[in-house]
Amino acid sequence: MKVLVTGGAGYIGSHTCLELLRQGHDIVVADSLYNAKPEALKRIRELSKRDFQFYEIDIRNEAELERVFAEHAFDCVIHFAGLKAVGESVGLPLKYYDNNVGSTITLCRVMKNNKVKRIIFSSSATVYRPGVLMPVDETAELGCSSPYGWTKFMCEQILRDVVTAYPDWSVVLLRYFNPIGADPSGRIGEDPTGIPNNLLPFVTQTALGRHDKLQIFGNDYATHDGTGVRDYIHVADLADGHVAALQFVMNHKGCEAINLGTGIGYSVLDIVNTFEEVNKVKVPYVISPRRPGDVDAVYAKPDKAKKLLGWEAKRTLDDMCRDSWHWQSNNPQGYQEG
Ligand code: NAD
Ligand code: UD1
Repeated sequence: MKVLVTGGAGYIGSHTCLELLRQGHDIVVADSLYNAKPEALKRIRELSKRDFQFYEIDIRNEAELERVFAEHAFDCVIHFAGLKAVGESVGLPLKYYDNNVGSTITLCRVMKNNKVKRIIFSSSATVYRPGVLMPVDETAELGCSSPYGWTKFMCEQILRDVVTAYPDWSVVLLRYFNPIGADPSGRIGEDPTGIPNNLLPFVTQTALGRHDKLQIFGNDYATHDGTGVRDYIHVADLADGHVAALQFVMNHKGCEAINLGTGIGYSVLDIVNTFEEVNKVKVPYVISPRRPGDVDAVYAKPDKAKKLLGWEAKRTLDDMCRDSWHWQSNNPQGYQEG
């Protein structure tokens, strides 16, 4: 298949590009490099031993996106491009709605003009209403607690409406849980700018000595050890999930929302303990107050992905912790040193 990957230079996009190339698909990447480095693309080429075309464009620029579609006949689009900092979205809602919703509308319009009818969209577990019962399946009530979350909710709705209007389209909304880990080569991985908000980058940077201590946000949650529980999923499993979704959209029409999670919830302390044990490094921590907006536990019911896509997560928490550390310890400054 020939696939346009928007946001393909980013964390999840780069791992998915690598797997698509390994599986023999052809890709074209469109990324503004707003939150990514060209070095990631160089390393995808190096690992896959394959080449592909890259367009450094903002996909909201319709004329430039039309040019990409004029130059290639795509079977499908995998749409990762988006801004993802939940906290930032609260202060800058217009930036988030403009980028995430605007880019999705422009992309669909250009797809329509060029008769490309298949799209796999990066959604998030954050579209589930806080407080829904766990494990959460795709029929659970939706509702968000941040502008970022609402952008995902709105893009999902736009894509559902597109399928209603054009029933020959095929759309998969992939709702990721908490992606962590990196390709086992240690050559590509997550490279956040500034102080990371998410747990794993903070853990790896603390193990490197870049922060004195990890703050564990609350130990009085209703969980097995009091710390927050999440469904961490290896980014390489997510990449496999996209390849499976690509097969699915080639053979189905309509719109499906599908969880990509493991179905297993691990606590913050589970993560810290496993990380220390597997990597033989110390992660000093302190218990701090709860982070506003956090909930006790979020984990998926992953059955629909198995049923529709024939996909399930394979990598263990040990794999996730080992590969995260392998990437970070080999690239202490991320892609900067590349
Ligand atoms: P990322 O920031 O590493 O990758 C996103 C990429 O999109 C970046 O390379 C960025 O430069 C690019 N981009 C952003 N806006 C663009 C635009 N208008 N035009 C062209 N390129 C643009 O993020 P990621 O972690 O790889 O996430 C990929 C997608 O998955 C995002 O849509 C994100 O919201 C979603 N998601 C991520 C997580 C997570 O925890 N990482 C969880 C759920 C959903
Ligand atoms: C975050 C996003 C969510 C997104 C998800 C997956 C927020 C509010 N939510 O969720 O929209 O879908 O990532 O990428 O940002 N923790 C600490 N110390 C830290 C960092 C985190 O104890 O320094 C704890 C948190 O309290 C939580 C767990 O670790 O219990 C995971 O946190 P994080 O990695 O930020 O992910 P989520 O909060 O699940």
